[in-house]
Amino acid sequence: MLLEDHADDSVLSTVIGVAKKAGELIAASWGQAKGFDCKDGHSTDLVTQTDRQVEQFIFERLKAFYPKHLFIGEEGVDEASVQLSDAPTWVVDPIDGTTNFIHNFDQTAISIALCVNKRAIVGVIYNPIRKELYYATQGGGAFLERYGNDAVRLTTSSTDDLKRSLVSIELGAAHGEADKLNEKWQNQMFPLLNHPIHGLRQLGAATMNFMAVARGCVEAYIESGLKPWDMAAGELIVREAGGVITMIDDENEPFRLTGKQVIASCNQQISQSIHRVLNSE
Ligand code: IPD
Repeated sequence: MLLEDHADDSVLSTVIGVAKKAGELIAASWGQAKGFDCKDGHSTDLVTQTDRQVEQFIFERLKAFYPKHLFIGEEGVDEASVQLSDAPTWVVDPIDGTTNFIHNFDQTAISIALCVNKRAIVGVIYNPIRKELYYATQGGGAFLERYGNDAVRLTTSSTDDLKRSLVSIELGAAHGEADKLNEKWQNQMFPLLNHPIHGLRQLGAATMNFMAVARGCVEAYIESGLKPWDMAAGELIVREAGGVITMIDDENEPFRLTGKQVIASCNQQISQSIHRVLNSE
């Protein structure tokens, strides 16, 4: 199966149309108090009715265009939702940064990726509150369209000195879970805090961290404990913006969507420096 069969402009414009429409569902409840449930009893892993509604909407729309493709969504609203395989599969996070959404903090986005051979070939991330649309196709570059203006090509930061870098690290849903926190603290945060970088950030949404790297305002983003829907579109967009994606454990191991961890760096030098710092403590 040829990648070109899938990563063409018509697929991209279909996904963009679906993402923008779905974004209206999120924007409709913006600024209001929202109810939520805790996933599997975890008080830090939240889901709202809007997450489920948006996922359902995206699945229905995309299935009408691509009935033979497979679908994976964070909220599992569809019984046909599957494990990631090599077949063309849509990987969807209806609201990435659900906690931000609940708190009306505008770092939240829809993430939709078409994956083939377990790697995204089309990726769209849409923040419906800031009206920022990020997209990429494999080999076609990465772009940002803001407030309906013409799209601009995205390029990662050219900084090659970690000491002049801003780095984002997410705790994810680890708050209050000592084992996970210890691991993140010891292996990621402490080594970086102990290194004179310009600063650490935590935006609360994997997609928004990836996009901060893609548009050049953050030099690297580090997180473990991620799921395919947190990474699929973001990884492609960063890669197409010129970034380097590696696994935290081993910088020589190719990125895997099922690998649960990522370092998204603006370039090879920063990637190597981050790996050196994380491995030196
Ligand atoms: C989460 C957010 C968060 C990240 C977690 C993700 P969700 O996604 O992206 O920033 O740290 O790892 O699971 O649950 O809001 O879709």
